[in-house]
Amino acid sequence: MPKLDTAALPRHIAIIMDGNGRWAEQRGKPRIVGHRGGVESVQEIVRTTRELGIGVLTLYAFSTENWKRPPLEVQALMGLLKTFLESELSTMAQNNVSLRCLGQKDRIPLEVRKVMEQVIKETASNSGMILNLALSYGGRDEIIQAVQQIARECVDGAISPEAIDQAVLEQHLYTAGLPDPDLMIRTGGETRLSNFLLWQASYAELYFTKILWPDFRKNDLLHAISDFQKRQRRFGKTGTQAEQTHDY
Ligand code: FPP
Repeated sequence: MPKLDTAALPRHIAIIMDGNGRWAEQRGKPRIVGHRGGVESVQEIVRTTRELGIGVLTLYAFSTENWKRPPLEVQALMGLLKTFLESELSTMAQNNVSLRCLGQKDRIPLEVRKVMEQVIKETASNSGMILNLALSYGGRDEIIQAVQQIARECVDGAISPEAIDQAVLEQHLYTAGLPDPDLMIRTGGETRLSNFLLWQASYAELYFTKILWPDFRKNDLLHAISDFQKRQRRFGKTGTQAEQTHDY
């Protein structure tokens, strides 16, 4: 197991959980079997992140584009989510984890949304870790809804166009108040962002692995964090400047 510097952990890890379908296909099973395997990885990764004391974990569970998948797969994924939320409520309570949802909540089927809202409400005051589930989430869509809200505030006279800056835009994103992801992981071998946290990932360290999501477990997360800890984050400065300022 890689040894980590506990003083230099990422504050926020975001994960694109890819490869469930291929994992199932490799075993001659229907895709949903891969998604079920993926839920086990979700449980292990949430537990590990919490144990490490990392403050925020964001998981890309369902994108705005995923609605185009075959209806039966969408239905099965929503069913898995509902079961996951129902079964994890007590674990989240025990481990002081607070659930949040990033995305178009109103597109989530009512029976799933009800459970989600209940879990969000019951875990709202937990302060150990924030678990963000990105559901019906798209980065471009998130920016558009933020711009629409700001435009409405301009029309109402609550803010002037000149006062719009990065901080104002950030306050209108689903992640308002949270630190940007320091580390973004994508499993499954593809090397793209797929519309995930486009604004927030501007300075994230990207980590791509060929491991399929149902196989991505504790040790793989520790490897990703260890790799992150070897990188120098410069935020546009020179290497020497960055070493002197120790920006996060
Ligand atoms: C991508 O694999 C994965 C998804 C679209 C869904 C992720 C969902 C889970 C891990 C399970 C449910 C989530 C929670 C939070 C309980 P893919 O189907 O695109 O795989 P492929 O690229 O191999 O086809």
